[in-house]
Amino acid sequence: MNDIKHNIDESNWQELVKNARDAYHKAYAPYSNFKVGTAAMTTDNRIVQGCNVENASYGLTVCAERNCIAQGVIGHEADEPLRFSVIVIYTEQVKLTPPCGACRQVISEFFPKSAQVIAINHLNQQQQWTVEQILPSAFTPDALINAN
Ligand code: THU
Repeated sequence: MNDIKHNIDESNWQELVKNARDAYHKAYAPYSNFKVGTAAMTTDNRIVQGCNVENASYGLTVCAERNCIAQGVIGHEADEPLRFSVIVIYTEQVKLTPPCGACRQVISEFFPKSAQVIAINHLNQQQQWTVEQILPSAFTPDALINAN
């Protein structure tokens, strides 16, 4: 599980892990006590963070991955569409945390199929997938191309 092969430059990798860990410590998860922190890199090399935010009305909880993407959207000013190259999902669980189904769909909106999804924990155990692996045959914006 350790020493996975990713093509992220070492200083970017360290920065992504640090940002995901810092976000983890800000998670608002009083109901599940299951904190998640994420950090993603945009293709123009911005790092954005997310954490899960729970709610007393449990179903309104938003996962760390989707909050991370929302931060990317807010900070995006370029003319080109927003794209991400990698998302790191940090937990302090022995069992690594892959993105939930809803997050896989939202990831597919903004990440190319070859982008990396990397789960990591406090023991530095890691697991990696491509976006295509976590949601094959995703429903993406190009499916709507003839709708208007
Ligand atoms: N959660 C995430 O933030 N990301 C995931 O990939 C899995 C689940 C959150 C939602 C909820 O606050 C808690 O973890 C337990 O499901």
